[in-house]
Amino acid sequence: CGIVGYIGQNDTKEVLLNGLEKLEYRGYDSAGIAILNDEGVNLTKVKGRIAALRESVDSSVYATMGIGHTRWATHGVPSIINAHPHQSVTGRFTLVHNGVIENYNDLKKEYLRDVNLVSDTDTEIIIQLIDQLYQKHQDTLEAFRETMSLLKGSYAIAMIDAEDHETLYVSKNKSPLLVGLGDGFNLVASDAMATLKETDQYLEIFDKEIVLVNRNFVEVQTLEGTVVERKPYTAEIDASDTEKGTYPHFMLKEIDEQPIVMRKIINEYQNENNELKLDTDIRSAMKAADRIYIIAAGTSYHAGLVGKEFLEKLAKIPVEVHVASEFSYNMPLLSENPLFVFISQSGETADSRSVLVKIKEMGYPALTITNVPGSTLSREADYTLNLYAGPEIAVASTKAYTAQIAVLAILAVDTANAKGIELDFDPMQELAIVANAMEVLTDQKEELEQLARDYFSTTRNAFFIGRSGDYNVSLEAALKLKEISYIQAEGFAGGELKHGTIALIEEGTPVIALATQKNVNYSIRGNVQEVVARGAKAMVISLKGLEEDDDAFVLPHVHELLTPLVSVIPMQLLAYYAALHRGCDVDKPRNLAKSVTVE
Ligand code: G6P
Repeated sequence: CGIVGYIGQNDTKEVLLNGLEKLEYRGYDSAGIAILNDEGVNLTKVKGRIAALRESVDSSVYATMGIGHTRWATHGVPSIINAHPHQSVTGRFTLVHNGVIENYNDLKKEYLRDVNLVSDTDTEIIIQLIDQLYQKHQDTLEAFRETMSLLKGSYAIAMIDAEDHETLYVSKNKSPLLVGLGDGFNLVASDAMATLKETDQYLEIFDKEIVLVNRNFVEVQTLEGTVVERKPYTAEIDASDTEKGTYPHFMLKEIDEQPIVMRKIINEYQNENNELKLDTDIRSAMKAADRIYIIAAGTSYHAGLVGKEFLEKLAKIPVEVHVASEFSYNMPLLSENPLFVFISQSGETADSRSVLVKIKEMGYPALTITNVPGSTLSREADYTLNLYAGPEIAVASTKAYTAQIAVLAILAVDTANAKGIELDFDPMQELAIVANAMEVLTDQKEELEQLARDYFSTTRNAFFIGRSGDYNVSLEAALKLKEISYIQAEGFAGGELKHGTIALIEEGTPVIALATQKNVNYSIRGNVQEVVARGAKAMVISLKGLEEDDDAFVLPHVHELLTPLVSVIPMQLLAYYAALHRGCDVDKPRNLAKSVTVE
């Protein structure tokens, strides 16, 4: 979910709606705003997206403070009743929340037996509790403070009190929230991208702090009430990067940006003598580690699988790659000197953060590789490597995946250099070749669109196979297709298909095989024959130099280790066109959110 709050001199509706539009990537099943003026609180909620909210908002109501929310449902179905903001029974307090309150049932039993709850959400518990405790304290801040001290779980909260036209009450634990600072106004938002039009000055909020946001000042307090001094920082994001320009979809724009991102990474990670430029502390931490634990979710996890190949083959360090949500509650036996590497486009994924908090408590070092400098995972790790991919807006990740792989390749080479391992691999030169190859591929949209029509127009399912490095990409290819086209797709190791899944192959089932690895070229082509013999409609995507006559698509030649960076591009475009032709919402697929800030 995404939240935004504003207190200032201007029409708050516009600031809130613009902010929510930018936060829609965090969830988009329902939305609402509450604004406060002399007439009281004006609340508008819709089931659906911000566009629907914009239409429902009464344009004649003017206010200079308010809060807004866009939701990704956790407790309770998407509906107007469950949409935020939520109001207390007396109507005095109104609140937006992102996160999950774990002890909401206990709180309900202990404090709210006599309250008629209207929604199915854990959030309503918070606001009713504040109202109850207000009866006790007769002081909003005390009621807010005591409520925050009772909550277990994750929350980012902004609240308005109908009797107080000067304050937004704000707090957070685990879920992201920032304060934006302006001249005569201040605001809060789940991320800086939402409010870049208003300001680039932000104040970080730490877990369990309480922040009072006024028009002219912001006061940060600990939960106990001690005032904390904090310096603002400047968010370095270009607001124009968050627009899609002439593109029909962000996803297509972001696919096309990949060659530029490769070149940007090359520039950022080398000095004027064309030598690798990495923080020397990171180098030392990598060198000192006896094992790397890569922790990530979704597409970032798939990038981690590719990164493992680089780190093991080039830097000779053993690497384990783990899905964050599993690692958090079922930790493997750790080595003596582990280094944890968190890969996350957003830097906000709650599953990954939960691991980071645990391993920091255990005293282990952590490096975050992220596209969002200043994000939670970046702030809380010891070291950060930036992806320089620019804001990624489409829910399905594309340029962040290739940026993660490129940065992991650079990290692996830098570590090999630090360990004195001789390599016959110049990462910057090879990445420059990759950038050119990506450009060739993004120019082949018509061909790929036709293949998407031929293979995916009506199919119910599809399989992606590959061996070795291609297997990692087949997992990502399947994820891309299922995320945005809703075709049931799975990625498999070419040799494993015959041990079960081949039972699903029917006449015409699409099987997309990647053949970019020399040492397994013969075997993957054998696997293709096995499925074709059982009726599959196969599409082979091969690498220049390894191609055969019937291959559907041939990729330009790049270094064998870096083939994932180019083989994923046709996979992204196939998924894009499949979704487009099936009438799906490419940038905002159903049920998903780009940044999942709940565990
Ligand atoms: C969500 C998104 C995925 C993304 C995953 C991890 O589930 O829908 O596209 O890969 O989170 O996100 P992160 O920001 O940590 O890379």
